[in-house]
Amino acid sequence: MSDKPLKVALLGCGVVGSQVVKLMREQAGDLAARIGAPLELAGVAVRKLGRKRDVEIDPALVTTDAEGLVARDDVDIVVEVIGGIEPARSLIVSALSGGKSVVTANKALLAEDGATLFEAARQGNGDLYYEASVAGAIPLLRPLRESLAGDHVKRVLGIVNGTTNYILDKMDSTGASFTDALEEAQSLGYAEADPTADVEGFDAAAKAAILASLAFHSRVTAAEVHREGITEITATDVASAKAMGYVIKLLAICAKSDDGRSIGVRVHPAMIPRTHPLAGVREAYNAVFVEAESAGQLMFYGKGAGGAPTASAVLGDIVAVARNRRAGTRGPDESTYADLPVHEMGATVTRCHVALDVADKPGVLARVAEEFAQHDVSIQTVRQEGHGDDAQLVIVTHQATDAALTATMAGLRELDIVRAVASVMRVEGD
Ligand SMILES: NC(=O)c1ccc[n+]([C@@H]2O[C@H](COP(=O)([O-])OP(=O)(O)OC[C@H]3O[C@@H](n4cnc5c(N)ncnc54)[C@H](OP(=O)(O)O)[C@@H]3O)[C@@H](O)[C@H]2O)c1
Repeated sequence: MSDKPLKVALLGCGVVGSQVVKLMREQAGDLAARIGAPLELAGVAVRKLGRKRDVEIDPALVTTDAEGLVARDDVDIVVEVIGGIEPARSLIVSALSGGKSVVTANKALLAEDGATLFEAARQGNGDLYYEASVAGAIPLLRPLRESLAGDHVKRVLGIVNGTTNYILDKMDSTGASFTDALEEAQSLGYAEADPTADVEGFDAAAKAAILASLAFHSRVTAAEVHREGITEITATDVASAKAMGYVIKLLAICAKSDDGRSIGVRVHPAMIPRTHPLAGVREAYNAVFVEAESAGQLMFYGKGAGGAPTASAVLGDIVAVARNRRAGTRGPDESTYADLPVHEMGATVTRCHVALDVADKPGVLARVAEEFAQHDVSIQTVRQEGHGDDAQLVIVTHQATDAALTATMAGLRELDIVRAVASVMRVEGD
């Protein structure tokens, strides 16, 4: 055991940062034994001094000069838990360029401009670790990057946003509307006052980009991810899914095309059978399925957010980069050798559940079926609900490209016997 401590600069001391300080302090002995040298907090950069924090910190360590802290010669490891693009990006680049190792939880930055960060890590010969950026406490990135490095990942499918899972779970279990379920999530601290990043799927899209990049050894940015949120989902959609033995979840799906020459990366609500393991993921929990050629199906489940769970992942990374520094080595570089392009959503193969408000008269079903056939979409099940003016046809298709399904919906909207396409939802997982 070395007496010389490894010095850690913490950027940000909010929900995650304060728990990082707490864990570093409470587990100092174990962490030192695991690393072979003690960790020492060199300083903590925040936006406002004097703010009440969840952890006591020696005021002499706290500063608003994040740049100055990062530039200090005695700092070995920089932990970035500020969030957002700037100043996080400049601070991380400056740390890496100065030969420091960086641990970050910043999914938004990694998904928007990971390339700049990885390049700075390569040039500075330091580490860039980011396990906490996807699915909080759940070890997922290291398994993809290291444990599965000898396999071929075919698909990653999961629930990576706890807020939307909480909302959809409440809608499913209580029959609540989206607005009421969101309000409840906000009152319990599961959703932010401005829930846009979660409910519109931006947060899940950033995570999908990070997962796809690792799984398929290619560089995928958030802008390339097809994204749909959950704000349009009604209590009727949820009830109708339930009646058919399905549950609606916001899924992140990253998959290789059949010919293996491109990848699809998407985030959207989908109906999955209630018997599917992801259907049992309740409240704000996360779960991710990974399908690999030799390993088969793997499932990762746990708390995807929260101060302590996320700090656990940050601490794991701190130990890893600290060990690397002591050994005079660094972890694997970004792996993008496959360089697969992301294909358009239209090329993605999926299935669809459609509810049509129709006139209840002879010939309607045949005309609707003809519209599906014209676009080469075959129908798996049809059921009629209601009569007269309330008649609704509920159709589930077999697999087809998203482009063919979209064209079918457009065609149906033009038919005079179809009063409205009441709902359209993709079906996954069976
Ligand atoms: N919360 C979670 O459950 C969770 C889960 C996974 C990943 N993450 C990621 O972890 C990161 C941090 O999230 P969080 O929830 O801990 O955020 P947070 O509670 O808002 O904390 C942000 C911290 O950054 C500080 N800060 C903001 N601007 C700064 C600047 N210009 N210079 C120095 N410090 C600055 C703030 O200082 P003040 O305190 O003085 O305002 C605050 O301490 C984000 O990238 C987020 O996506 C969070």
